[in-house]
Parts: sequence; C-alpha cells; structure tokens
Amino acid sequence: MSWVTEKAKKGLERIREAQDKQVYPYFKPFESGGLHTTIDGKPIVNFSSNDYLGLTTHPKVKEASIEAVKKFSCGLSSSRVQATTTAHVELEERLADWFGYEACLIFTTGYQAMVGTIMSLADKDTTLVLDNLAHACILDGTFLAAGVPRSGSEIRFFNHNSARSLRRALSKRERKNALVAIEGIYSLDGDEANILELLDAAEEDPNAVMLVDDAHGTGTLGMHGKGIHEKYDIASRVPILVSTFSKTFGGIGGLLLGSKDVVEHVKHQARSFLFSASLPVPVVAAAATILDMLEESGPQLVAELHEKAAYMRKSLTEIGFDLGKSDTHIMPVMCREERKALFTHVAMLESGVMMVPITYPGVQKGEERLRLNVTRGHTREDMDQALDLLKIYGEAFFILSGEELAPMES
Ligand SMILES: Cc1ncc(COP(=O)(O)O)c(C=O)c1O
Repeated sequence: MSWVTEKAKKGLERIREAQDKQVYPYFKPFESGGLHTTIDGKPIVNFSSNDYLGLTTHPKVKEASIEAVKKFSCGLSSSRVQATTTAHVELEERLADWFGYEACLIFTTGYQAMVGTIMSLADKDTTLVLDNLAHACILDGTFLAAGVPRSGSEIRFFNHNSARSLRRALSKRERKNALVAIEGIYSLDGDEANILELLDAAEEDPNAVMLVDDAHGTGTLGMHGKGIHEKYDIASRVPILVSTFSKTFGGIGGLLLGSKDVVEHVKHQARSFLFSASLPVPVVAAAATILDMLEESGPQLVAELHEKAAYMRKSLTEIGFDLGKSDTHIMPVMCREERKALFTHVAMLESGVMMVPITYPGVQKGEERLRLNVTRGHTREDMDQALDLLKIYGEAFFILSGEELAPMES
C-alpha cells in the first residue's frame, strides 16, 4: 500500500465509522435547489442554508440567468484579464456605489477574494493579526502570505472579539505594518463582531488597517442589508471589506470593496484573481438582479428576516435551548456532544428538516452543535415544524437536560 493510500485510509477512519453507523451527515444530494428541496424524493426544509433573504430561487433571478446563458453561455474560458464582460464591470460599479466604497472587484469566489486580497497586501513588513475564530479563507490567505520565500509576513492571533487581546497582539508584533482581519458575523457561533471596540483598538495604532469579511453580514445587517459597516455607520473606518455572492446574493462569487488604489492594486496582484477563470455571466446576472431587489425594497427584505429570526430565537429560548454566543439570525443549537448532534440531525432529517451538525475539528470538543440559520425564505410553518422536532429530539437525546447519553454498544 503506498503512503498516499495509507494516509487516505487513516484520514477516513472517523468518516467511515460514521458512514457504517449511518450517521454520516454531509454531502446529501438535493434534487432541486433552495430552502425547500427533496433528498431521496422526500421533502426537506433546509435550515443550514445561507440564502439569507430567500432570493436565490426567485423567478426574476432565474429569468435573468437564463437570458444571460442565451447571450454568454456558462463560461468565459479564461480569467478576468482577458474575459471581462460589460456585465462584470457594470455590477462592480453598482456594488461599489451600493456598499458605499470607491471601487469593487468581483472574484470567482469569496474564498479567492480573501486569499487574493491578503496575499496582495501583506509582505515581509506586515503582521497579519487574526481573531482566533477566523474563517478558513482568512487563515489560508495568511498562511500563504507567511510562506512566501524571503518575504513572508508575521502572524499573530488575538482572543475572539477581545479588543484588549487585539491591543496586546498589535503591541507585541515585530513588523511595522499590521493588517487586522475580522468577520462581521462569525458563521459557526452566529455572533457579531465587537467591531466598535476592535476599531478603537486598531485605530490607536497608526500602522494598523482593518479588513472585514462580511460574508454573513451582507444582506442581514444594517437597515438595507449593506452589512456591519451600515449598521454602525463606520464605512470610513473599515477601509477594506470582503464579501460573497454565495449567501444573500444567490450564487457564487467574491467581492473586494475599498479605495480605487487598493482595489486596482489587488486586481493586478492577486493570483487567485489573475490565474482563475472569471465568474460566469449567468451568475453575475443573478447577483445583479438581487441587487435590483435590495435597491427597490428599501429596508423591507431585511426587516422580514429579522422578524423571523426574532420569532425563532424567542421560541428556541422558551423551549430551553442553549444558543451559545449567537446574537444574529445564525443560531447554533448547542448539543455539546458529538453523538447528540449526529443523532438529532439524523432523526430530524427523517422527519423532513435538515440541520447539519458541526463537530470536531470544525469546532472544539464539547462545542458540537446543529447549524440553524433562519432565513427570510422560511415560513412560519417551516419554523414551527423545526421547533416541534427540536423539542422532541432535544428531549430524547438529552440536549435539553444536558445529561450524558448512555455509551453505545459496539
Ligand atoms: C466568513 C466567510 N468568508 C468567506 C467565505 C467564502 O465565501 P465563498 O463561498 O464565496 O467562497 C465564507 C463561506 O463559507 C464565509 O463563511
């Protein structure tokens, strides 16, 4: 057996065990798109989706994409350098305007937008200062920047959301410049960045610049859904904003927002932008149509999401669930034991509700949870169905009482 096969077998041990016990929860194929789908022919309400405003499957969005397919097909067969369309440029200009920044650059994914932005800005004179719950795209961009031969950046972490710890990390750094990366909302815990205090801390340092990944704040925070900078009116204090089309904006794609100079620089430096194919126009058209809707609706779409999230939060809390640190529409149902999360997931899926479990190493041991995202696309009936099932299985698997599950017989 080659070492590669040996490594794969070892790496798959836990996964194969879960598959054998029929509690493996991931990669379940949907038979149609959206929050309401089918799996193996059975209707499912999906509560682990990031389609926060429920617009991904809107008929207008589909129509716009179909029209774009007719004109541009599904691919442009090259990177943006030689495969930029008027649709990309127009949407970049509109997004810059809507978010309130000088310029915008569309990447093919949010992951690539973050990796490319960090790699283009950080060098040997830079310390990358990260919240210790940073998303994989921030970590990967940072590790790549740190690994560049002879000009790698320094890396420092601060305790999640702690301005005190950020100040300490900034003061201990060994490089002149600091790029501080945080997220608007942390996707596994559903808690908002402590952004005002973190900004105060960063602004005490003349060479620290804040970069915010607002993937989960776009469409959900601020009156019009522009994100955390709108909610706190701090666009001028957040010079670099990264977001995605893969949640509220109905498809896939990444965004960088910033000053003209910074965005132009990244556009000519970011390898994840220059050496990867451009975003297909049907996807650009879908995002442009969702932007139309956000512009036309004013605050209404976001208000509807918040109303639903408030109902779910109140009901979950009344039943007695622990929602961890959540203070947004992302409400992890804390199970704090892997088997409780897996068993509840399986039982709920059998009954038509999907909440994906998040287990170690996605979160620390003892922090296992079900991923519950409320979206504007969920109906009151969807939420009540989920609440009824959660109550039944939360009791059956001792999530509500906190007692230990009996050991499994082998
Ligand atoms: C905080 C955060 N940043 C970035 C991304 C990556 O976005 P995309 O799906 O567009 O690659 C995600 C998606 O999982 C995310 O949760």
